Amino acid sequence: MKKTAKYRLRQAGAKRGTARSIKENGAGIKDDDAGIEAFTSAMTDLLANASGPWAAELTNAFTQLDFTPTGIDPDLGPDSIGRYLEGCIQSLPQGKSPDNALADFARNVARQLSWYQIFDGGGVDPGLERGMLAGQIVGTRGLYNVDRPNASTTDPDLYAGNLYAGNLYAGLFLLAPGIYYPLHQHPALEVYAVLSGNLTIHHGRSKPAMVIGPGQISITPPWQVHSLTTGDHPCLVAYAWTGDLTGENWWWQQDEEGQWWRHCWERQASSAWAPGRTEKLTPEEMHRAGDPDIEA
Ligand SMILES: [Fe+2]
Repeated sequence: MKKTAKYRLRQAGAKRGTARSIKENGAGIKDDDAGIEAFTSAMTDLLANASGPWAAELTNAFTQLDFTPTGIDPDLGPDSIGRYLEGCIQSLPQGKSPDNALADFARNVARQLSWYQIFDGGGVDPGLERGMLAGQIVGTRGLYNVDRPNASTTDPDLYAGNLYAGNLYAGLFLLAPGIYYPLHQHPALEVYAVLSGNLTIHHGRSKPAMVIGPGQISITPPWQVHSLTTGDHPCLVAYAWTGDLTGENWWWQQDEEGQWWRHCWERQASSAWAPGRTEKLTPEEMHRAGDPDIEA
C-alpha cells in the first residue's frame, strides 16, 4: 500500500477552513475542494441536520479517522458511467455556498474515481447489474483508505486480498433510471446523501416509502432491511458505511410457497459483491431487520 501522507481529522464540520491544506497529497488530487477534508466536512454538515444516535455515529466515523491516499488511477470503464455520470454532474447545483459543498466536491472528484459495478459476475438481472455503480472515495479502491490503529504492516487482514477498509467505506453511488434494488440488509450503518435525481427508499415493506432528493439524506441502521428505487432519471448519491463492515449483504426473497429466504452477497477483493450462501429467514432475523410483520 502506498503511503505518502497521513491526515488526522477531528470535528471537521466545526473546523472548516482551519485545517491544513491537502494539495499535492499523492492521490492525484489538484484542488483542495476535491480532498478528503471537503468530503468529510460536507457530510458532517449534512448529518448535523439529522438527529438520533446513528447520525452521531456516522459523524464520529467521518471525524475520528486517519486517512491515507491510495494513489488509484481513475477508471470510467462501465458503460453506465458514460451514459449517466456527465448528466448527473451537469445537473448539480452551481455556486459556492455551504448548501452546495457536497455537490461541489462531487463535481470535482467524480471523474477521478475508479468506478465499478457493485454486483459483478452473474446472479443478478443484467439491467440491475449494469445500472448500479460505485466510485469509492474512502475504501480499498478509493482515493483514500482508513488506517486501523496499531495495525501491523504484515497484518494479513489488512493486506491479504486488500479487503480491509478500516472503519469507513464512502464514495459516490450512481443508479441508472428504472432501478429496483430489492430488499436487503447488512451489518453496516449506511447513509445516503442525494446529489442528483431522486431515490425512493423503503425500510421494510410496511413503512411508507421515503423519497429523497438533492440535499436530503437517509440513514439506514445496521441490519434494517431496505430497498431502493429510481424513476425516469439517474440518481447520483454520496454514500457511507461504518460500524460493522463485515462484507455481507443479504437479499430477501419469497418463494412460491410464501417462505422467505435470504441470500448472502459477499464483498470481493475488487469491492464488488459475489453470490454466497442462502438460508431461511427466521422470525428473530425479521425482527432484527425492522420488519417483523412478514409472516414466515
Ligand atoms: Fe444498504
